[in-house]
Amino acid sequence: MARSYRLSLAAGVAFVLGAQCAAIAGGPSDDKLVIDGEMEIMTRVAPPEGHPLDEVISGWHYRTEETRALEADSFQNPGMLYVERGEEIWNTVEGDAGKSCASCHEDGEEFLKGIGANYPKWNADAGKPFNIELQINQCREENMQAKPYKFDAADQKALTTFIKHKSIGMPVEVDLTEGDMKAWWDKGEELYYTRTGQLNLSCATCHEDYNGNYIRADHLSQGNVNGFPTYRLKQSAMVSLHNRFRGCIRDTRGAFPAAFSDDLMALEVYVTWRGSGLGVETPAVRQ
Ligand code: HEC
Ligand code: HEC
Repeated sequence: MARSYRLSLAAGVAFVLGAQCAAIAGGPSDDKLVIDGEMEIMTRVAPPEGHPLDEVISGWHYRTEETRALEADSFQNPGMLYVERGEEIWNTVEGDAGKSCASCHEDGEEFLKGIGANYPKWNADAGKPFNIELQINQCREENMQAKPYKFDAADQKALTTFIKHKSIGMPVEVDLTEGDMKAWWDKGEELYYTRTGQLNLSCATCHEDYNGNYIRADHLSQGNVNGFPTYRLKQSAMVSLHNRFRGCIRDTRGAFPAAFSDDLMALEVYVTWRGSGLGVETPAVRQ
């Protein structure tokens, strides 16, 4: 990478950091994430071929000891309430067809295993990748004759959390060979490295070049997605992935794309791939 390019990236981040707070280097913690003393989650793995970093590391390692402990104890993890609520929704009849998710997919125990680790996934009918939220809406509209959820409706977040949680600990793996997935990956990669906003920052500036440094009070992680939807202490709520993407883009003072737009779906495909091999953590706990 040309030296002048490096320098201008650094200048952009320094601008965000503000005058009062210099970038402090501080690596991710060396702890292991073991949930309820039983289930060890893969939070540091070898990268897939072609990945720019030497090691793929979950955002869990970058949080404080207290936050890490909350995620390791499913009784204390506030996100687990959303898992319970999601299970209720799974079993609730809604829509003109008089069906619940469970009417067709039973308790989800077998059916949902691995789903949360393997999305986004190519949807041939739609001709685009689907994430869990889009798949839920498709089943609601076509199979239940119910209204699709609006972006970030409480029930959308709870049901997505329940579905992802069914794959807890399973390694993230997206199938890029189906349909046009590779083209969406390419578009996602391009977006990841495109600088936007008044601050002229890309995802890569913060999450690739500066991960391990502090930006204001935040310890910058690699920006992996294996914990989404994620419980954020700051908001006392579950935060969906596209909400997080939009928040990050807003922080560059850039215009942010709509949830589930082609741009954010392409980013989801690419960023999910960057975290290949990490165990699903949903519901993760973050600051
Ligand atoms: C009337 C039956 C029916 C109902 C009710 C239904 N689904 Fe489905 N679902 C299907 C069928 C059939 C498929 C296979 C793919 C397709 O046609 O979309 C499917 C596919 C899926 C998939 C993708 C599976 C995969 O392998 O990728 C998920 C996830 C899913 N449904 C979740 C739900 C949820 C959540 C609900 C409740 C909101 C629900 N379904 C309600 C019939 C149903
Ligand atoms: C100005 C710096 C900055 C930029 C640019 C930025 N982010 Fe972030 N991002 C953050 C901070 C700060 C956090 C919270 C701490 C952390 O996990 O890194 C975060 C968190 C995340 C997380 C959650 C990680 C976790 O473990 O919960 C994801 C995913 C993410 N960013 C993706 C992106 C994507 C995709 C882009 C580009 C569209 C982007 N970010 C651009 C600063 C940035």
